[in-house]
Amino acid sequence: MSTQTIEVPTDAELLQAQADLWRHSLYYLSSMGLRCAVELEIPTTIHHLGGVTSLPDLMSALSLPLGKMSFLARLMRVLVMSGVFAADIGSESGVDLYRLTPLSRVLVHGVVADEHHSQKYFVLGVTSPHYTEAAFGLANWFKKDHEPPVPSSFEDIFGVPLCDEKTPLLDEELDKVVNLGLAAHDNLGIATILRECHDIFKGLESLTDCGGGDGTTARAIIKAYPHIKCTVLDLPKVVDKAPADGVINYVPGDLFHSVPSSQAVMLKLVLHIWNDEDCVKILAQCKKAIPSREEGGKVIIIEIVVEPSLGPIMFEAQLFMDMLMMVNSKGGQRGENDWRKLFMKAGFTDYKIVKKLGARSVIEVYP
Ligand SMILES: C[S@@+](CC[C@H](N)C(=O)[O-])C[C@H]1O[C@@H](n2cnc3c(N)ncnc32)[C@H](O)[C@@H]1O
Repeated sequence: MSTQTIEVPTDAELLQAQADLWRHSLYYLSSMGLRCAVELEIPTTIHHLGGVTSLPDLMSALSLPLGKMSFLARLMRVLVMSGVFAADIGSESGVDLYRLTPLSRVLVHGVVADEHHSQKYFVLGVTSPHYTEAAFGLANWFKKDHEPPVPSSFEDIFGVPLCDEKTPLLDEELDKVVNLGLAAHDNLGIATILRECHDIFKGLESLTDCGGGDGTTARAIIKAYPHIKCTVLDLPKVVDKAPADGVINYVPGDLFHSVPSSQAVMLKLVLHIWNDEDCVKILAQCKKAIPSREEGGKVIIIEIVVEPSLGPIMFEAQLFMDMLMMVNSKGGQRGENDWRKLFMKAGFTDYKIVKKLGARSVIEVYP
């Protein structure tokens, strides 16, 4: 067919295409609506109102001017549609009621409870002007013929990588929000992993949590499995701030140079920030730190394994997380084939995807 002509969609296809075009072009309004709810503290306020509220009560608790009531109703309508809140609209009493959902419950801030890690700063970080500007520059970034290692769009635009020692020089507030957001993101779901993956930790004598941050994960492991001797390896600037509680053995260091020996090494949400070459180097250091498979040696990886069979919602979440990495880091999310290649390149002989937990998986890799 000539490129001077184009196949005309049917009327039904055209109408659907138009609606899809609106939705996909305007997804940013969904993100910004969520950000607005977090900035206004709507989830926390509904929680303090008992988990359910009418619009006038919400307006009053938020101290918003009455003239904004109909606008708040419109924001809430979008947030209900996207599952952030639930609503009883046109209920018998004639009063519309808004409730928290599991999604907005993880956005409730300032409540101290086991297994509750408020995701407020994750939302504020990933919808921040710096993140969105980096995404805005994607087309320009594609056109540039960068020398490897290819910098992210974020680094290309702002001159410093994200989550780097130099990031505070770019914007101290951004650095603070991103670090709080990362910690919240990484800590969500540890208890689920421990409950669902009993076989992984059962019988394990020692474990090094490589890039284990402030030790939150290691502490949860020790609480559930007190017999495991846990070591946390992280950069000196992170380890220096970690609480010296005597429960965890903190080791300041660099996972590219050496990993403390243990029966098992864990890499939880670490490899997705690195490119393939760096991942192979990290995995090779982990392999040196563990005994043979017969002696229980293994590397435990907790990461996304990109997989359409998880269904459209999980798959979409995985792909957006991959784009997030592409725009802001040198890493990315990997499918099973990509993971297999990395493991083999680093000298491992076998691996097993032990458990799929939501959009993430737990993988055991054997020497
Ligand atoms: C995305 S965080 C994951 C934290 C933790 N594993 C968790 O799941 O909560 C990545 C961690 O790797 C650490 N890290 C980055 N580069 C490192 C290096 N060269 N050596 C050791 N740790 C490093 C960071 O300081 C950070 O704590």
